[in-house]
Amino acid sequence: MIVVRAAAPEDREIVVSLLTGSWGGTAMVVHGVRHDADELPALIAWLDGGPVGLLTYVIAADALEVVTLDAALPRAGVGTALLAAAADTARASGADRLWVTTTNDNLDALRFYQRRGLRLTALAPGAVDEARKLKPSIPVIGDNGIALHDELTLELHPL
Ligand SMILES: CC(C)(COP(=O)(O)OP(=O)(O)OC[C@H]1O[C@@H](n2cnc3c(N)ncnc32)[C@H](O)[C@@H]1OP(=O)(O)O)[C@@H](O)C(=O)NCCC(=O)NCCS
Repeated sequence: MIVVRAAAPEDREIVVSLLTGSWGGTAMVVHGVRHDADELPALIAWLDGGPVGLLTYVIAADALEVVTLDAALPRAGVGTALLAAAADTARASGADRLWVTTTNDNLDALRFYQRRGLRLTALAPGAVDEARKLKPSIPVIGDNGIALHDELTLELHPL
């Protein structure tokens, strides 16, 4: 059974390892904002005593923004459990919406979020090309062999 818990200070190494495993490091650039994701509040998914997923977030202006979401064990319910826990966290903090930015190549994420009720609310053409100027390690060709250029915003509202 997957259990999701808020990351504690002693989980720092796990957070860094999950972020590095997915993104090659802990620095993220999303809609022009640079985050050190290992310093953000986070939720960790556990299965059989081991970490299997991570969600980092920011709460501001009555909304929870998912900055990163990663399932180390795909298609086992990890992403769903983390997203549900993030919605609970948002509600508990008085937020009334949850939003996330993903990229035009990430068909898995676009499907995943829409299947869980999030709606597309914005398209930022060329936003990834801008982010690449701040983080040159962002690949030119992304998932599914798709050229990586744009950001899409999805939102769950009401929670
Ligand atoms: C997007 C992402 C987080 C989804 O996480 P995930 O843990 O694979 O998602 P889930 O397992 O909860 O759900 C995925 C599918 O697997 C299915 N599934 C869940 N548990 C299952 C099981 N035990 N057996 C078979 N299928 C299962 C779900 O029903 C779901 O299908 P659906 O969308 O048709 O309902 C994951 O693909 C990922 O880490 N991607 C890389 C990082 C990324 O791009 N993050 C998002 C950008 S911020």
